Amino acid sequence: MEHYFTNSNNLKSEIKEFKVKLSDKEFTFKTDNGVFSKGELDYGTYLLLTNVLKLNIKGNVLDLGCGYGALGIVLAKLNDVKVTMIDVNKRALHLTKMNAHNNEVQVQVFESDGVSTIQDDFDYIVTNPPIRVGKIKLYELISDALKCLKKNGELFLVIRKEQGAKSFINDFSEKAQIKIIDKNKGFYILSLKVSTN
Ligand SMILES: C[S@@+](CC[C@H](N)C(=O)[O-])C[C@H]1O[C@@H](n2cnc3c(N)ncnc32)[C@H](O)[C@@H]1O
Repeated sequence: MEHYFTNSNNLKSEIKEFKVKLSDKEFTFKTDNGVFSKGELDYGTYLLLTNVLKLNIKGNVLDLGCGYGALGIVLAKLNDVKVTMIDVNKRALHLTKMNAHNNEVQVQVFESDGVSTIQDDFDYIVTNPPIRVGKIKLYELISDALKCLKKNGELFLVIRKEQGAKSFINDFSEKAQIKIIDKNKGFYILSLKVSTN
């Protein structure tokens, strides 16, 4: 079975475009088979975005597991931030580059397994993480990402109650200061800060 995080050249491409309005600005996104949330903005991604947009962040941002690019592209357009976007899925990265161009934003996009190839430190990291990779890999992705935060940097993520939001909070409470910044329809929006970075 193919997952959205695998690379499959055999999967037929069927691009589907959609439009979405955020903070009075319309965005157009191309999506495809084999990439997370084809044809629509995922509700978790939407909730994460609307919460982060309220904070009017500045500085540099890493979009970890960018998919077709919604989080990073919207933040680059609406906030004063420099955005880096990474994923392991080549089709997702291709879509992100097209979507960035079509929405007239400049972002840095490249293939990376987690932060393994990342050299910079970030003010913010945003992620709707790949739950389907399993708990061990998920925790590794987030733990490693926390090490790429600047001092006082903040990682924002969305996780559903049924995907283990409560045990995630429990398991990361020794590594980071965790705040629940929003909760809606079973989706938790979390902020993680590491005071020792
Ligand atoms: C739940 S999707 C979110 C996609 C996009 N950010 C959104 O909100 O629509 C998680 C993304 O993480 C990517 N991913 C999976 N494993 C990864 C890894 N080891 N390193 C980087 N990205 C990964 C998947 O390919 C997928 O695009």
